[in-house]
Amino acid sequence: MKLTQRVICFLLLFLGWVAPSSLFADPGVALFKKKQCALCHNIHNPGTVFAPVCPGLQGVRYRHNKDWVRQWLKDPTAVWATNDANVQDINARYFRYRGSKPKPRESFMATIIGKKVVLTDEEIEALIDYLWKL
Ligand code: HEC
Repeated sequence: MKLTQRVICFLLLFLGWVAPSSLFADPGVALFKKKQCALCHNIHNPGTVFAPVCPGLQGVRYRHNKDWVRQWLKDPTAVWATNDANVQDINARYFRYRGSKPKPRESFMATIIGKKVVLTDEEIEALIDYLWKL
């Protein structure tokens, strides 16, 4: 084998070894689909777009801190009930998008995720790692 052929063979082997591990390394991507987040959330929309009813998750790290998102994914019902600044901010964005005045409403996420989807602490951390890259 010529040297160039050897080099090409080596490069192909190296890529075959490196590419799959780097492409599938983010467990948050898989979880986002598996746990049905992708049914409601569009990762390309900004947080001001609620299409059809859920905020886009682009730049979510600028709207909340990790601790808040951790609690939110663990127990959205409880977090929603606190009506803290983060909840009020979501509501303000929601009603601005719909062009109507803010009024009390239920959390859509709490009614679905809160009842059906249970996330472990590890899953929540993986999801947050992923969300923090959006
Ligand atoms: C049933 C639809 C639905 C599903 C499924 C869902 N969400 Fe949500 N999510 C919402 C809605 C609607 C809001 C806005 C608050 C509310 O009404 O509950 C929200 C809010 C959020 C926020 C705050 C966004 C912001 O801009 O302030 C984050 C972060 C989030 N969801 C992450 C997730 C993750 C991660 C999953 C998957 C485990 C998920 N959501 C699954 C509907 C959903």
